[in-house]
Amino acid sequence: MQKVTVIGAGNVGATVADCVAQKDMVHEVVMVDIKEGMPQGKGLDMMESSPVHGFDTTVTGTNDYGPTEDSDVCIITAGLPRSPGMSRDDLLAKNTEIVGGVTEQFVDGSPDSTIIVVANPLDVMTYVAYEASGFPSNRVMGMAGVLDTARYRSFIAQELDVSVRDIQALLMGGHGDTMVPLPRYTTIGGIPLTQWLDDDTITDIVERTKGGGGEIVDLMGTSAWYAPGAAAAEMTEAIIKDNNRILPAAAYCDGEYGLEDLFIGVPVKLGANGVEDIIEVELTDEEKDQLDTSAEHVHSNLDDLQRLRDAGEIG
Ligand code: NAI
Ligand code: 2OP
Repeated sequence: MQKVTVIGAGNVGATVADCVAQKDMVHEVVMVDIKEGMPQGKGLDMMESSPVHGFDTTVTGTNDYGPTEDSDVCIITAGLPRSPGMSRDDLLAKNTEIVGGVTEQFVDGSPDSTIIVVANPLDVMTYVAYEASGFPSNRVMGMAGVLDTARYRSFIAQELDVSVRDIQALLMGGHGDTMVPLPRYTTIGGIPLTQWLDDDTITDIVERTKGGGGEIVDLMGTSAWYAPGAAAAEMTEAIIKDNNRILPAAAYCDGEYGLEDLFIGVPVKLGANGVEDIIEVELTDEEKDQLDTSAEHVHSNLDDLQRLRDAGEIG
């Protein structure tokens, strides 16, 4: 009788809930939001789609945490999204309060669950949820790499006019402009990307991937939800089904890649215990430099968080 909770039933949260329900892999999905009636209405709407989609998962919405008790996986999407001109980092103070608060309210009833954070700035919000939960680090992670890799893979598929299904890719680092797509670890049908495309075209695709979130914010005035929702649902499925997927996730590094005490995108083995393992791949000096730059950015956000706490501006 597995249960998934989604906190924040806005654009991303409702999409995650819908994707998880359509996978028909858990008994129950519960959406929590502070807006009265909204999660309940969305839950009912999704339930009414179940005969068409053919799933038996129950989807409900609530404004309190009672119905979330004994969840197996929780996806935290509660928080402000980006508006045009805003970076993910601008969301730091407000979303720290929201993510810390919802985590504390959730974990009492589901002390053995695994948490996937989606709210931005992703790598720091994952740290906030880790601290607030008191969970071991393997049971807290952030979703960004699956989304960023999906964007990267979709751009490659468009460029080459091939199926996205045959593209395997790896992307590391923080969820922001410093993310590190790795063309050297990208293959199409097992053939390295570097044999398909010239350096300039690869660079264009890498740069478009780095700005992929901003491209959508500029088009529609707020951030994306279809691809983020699908990405979080894919991670949820890996945990629920314990199928040891190798996916990029923001995981807690304690020496891996020479990185200490931060959550950042790395390849992980994802199973019933959450992050079962961090996979350490060989990086060139240039790739390692890029990862270090990205880690410095995440550390500087963590420093900002500490400064705001020291100044009493956030709890
Ligand atoms: P949204 O505004 O559509 O939904 C956020 C929801 O959170 C709202 O319904 C709001 O009522 C709810 N909420 C706020 N405070 C709450 C609280 N204390 N308890 C419960 N619910 C609360 O925003 P959207 O587009 O769903 O984005 C959510 C977050 O996800 C943003 O921070 C956004 O930047 C981030 N995001 C991260 C991505 C990633 O790759 N990690 C991708 C896309 C969005
Ligand atoms: C995205 O990448 C804004 O983080 C959000 O779409």
